[in-house]
Amino acid sequence: MDCSSLGHTCVVGLHWGDEGKGKIVDLLSEHFDIVVRFNGGGNAGHTVVIAGERFALHLLPVGVLSPGRMAVIGPGVALDAGRLFEEIDALARRGIVVGDNLRVSDRAHLVMPWHKKQDVLSEQALGDDRIGTTARGIGPCYADKMQRATAVRVIDLLKPAELPARIARICELKNRIFAAAYGDAEPLDAGAVTAEYLALAERIRRHVCDTTRLFAESIAAGRRLLFEGANGMLLDIDHGTFPYVTSSTTSAIGVPAGAGVPSQTVRTVIGVTKAYTTRVGAGPFPSELRDETGQYIRDRGHEYGTTTGRPRRCGWFDAVAARYSVSFGGITAVAVMHLDTLTGLQRVGICTGYRVRDGLLPGFVTDCSLLEQAEPVLEFLPGWDADISAARRVADLPPAARNYLDRLEELLGVPVTIVSVGPDRSQTLMRP
Ligand code: GDP
Ligand code: IMO
Ligand code: MG
Repeated sequence: MDCSSLGHTCVVGLHWGDEGKGKIVDLLSEHFDIVVRFNGGGNAGHTVVIAGERFALHLLPVGVLSPGRMAVIGPGVALDAGRLFEEIDALARRGIVVGDNLRVSDRAHLVMPWHKKQDVLSEQALGDDRIGTTARGIGPCYADKMQRATAVRVIDLLKPAELPARIARICELKNRIFAAAYGDAEPLDAGAVTAEYLALAERIRRHVCDTTRLFAESIAAGRRLLFEGANGMLLDIDHGTFPYVTSSTTSAIGVPAGAGVPSQTVRTVIGVTKAYTTRVGAGPFPSELRDETGQYIRDRGHEYGTTTGRPRRCGWFDAVAARYSVSFGGITAVAVMHLDTLTGLQRVGICTGYRVRDGLLPGFVTDCSLLEQAEPVLEFLPGWDADISAARRVADLPPAARNYLDRLEELLGVPVTIVSVGPDRSQTLMRP
């Protein structure tokens, strides 16, 4: 793939998150001027490894790691301002300064302490029916955005005269709700929350702007935008495996609204997938391997969550689900990650269909009770033994690994243009 000629581009995950989006955004950043987060919030965990050094970003766009790039947090992000500055401070300790290169939309909604509390209380109350959220307050923050009267936006931080009364009013209401609904006996202290957010307001002020205007001017000036999708397309609030989803639009469909750019802006949509499939949290996963092969993949791929440390559920590559994401998300090219993780397996499986009692399903469905019953139709290809982590060209890969990539490409119906054989920036192969 010739990255130097890409138009405005969006990177998204084809399955349930953690596909390796962070690595691909980092790789592409040098070819773009602005890297933009448009959805999700601190539930994301995007890992980048540069010359052996590992960075895990949750709220900051990965572009902050590339010198000279502007990084923007768009209006569609659920922003935990405290965590944002923790991230900025952690990078500063490692010599990476985030200053005027970071812009934050004045319209972004803030994740407030009551949102994180509600996330935890709600999950506890659900017991076995819980969603398995990241406890980052994402769902409650977006719920208040829609509710409007109980929302706090970045722009509210810039009005310190009005902020205390606003926080006091919402805190009082939330405390009553938590006590009544969950028997919660530890009310939030409005004074402490106000003090915390007045301090955050002073820090965030220099980064805040009208990002919609910034994008319009940047596009007109010929600057190139890279949109960094968070979560995965099957976690999409409308098109994912509801209710086992996150609360935002996780595909490129979300870019115009979540960033604030015209709908025809994005030209290239890169769908990132692992050479197998993983999921964290609850919800159906038809190709899941609950056996030693699943454990083998988990161990070799270090499949433990970047945000919560939870073990990720592992399974064969789900081509049915990926094809669905390619189709509804307008994917134009695919990056296949973690090919190295499959090394050593005698045979490698691909889920090409779902079987239920009445026969084969016509394709992916988002009805979770149907998906829970679905048995994977598996196709097996020969595996490979050679260590491929040092491969730098597709020609360096063993024939069985190349054959596997060809089959994935055939099933997906779009070109596999990037192949990753390790976490480092350098462990990447470009396919023509
Ligand atoms: P994201 O949320 O989509 O950005 O993905 P995560 O960062 O949560 O998870 C992907 C993990 O796989 C990270 O730990 C990466 O460093 C790692 N990774 C990415 N690509 C490869 C690869 O090709 N091989 C291996 N072994 N690890 C990879
Ligand atoms: P990245 O960007 C993997 C999952 C959670 C849970 C569900 C809802 O790193 O790929 P939430 O906290 O959003 O309300 O949780 O969505 N989830 C992710 N899983 N990677 C992510 O982000 C995720 N973001 C949310 O595990 O099942
Ligand atoms: Mg992740």
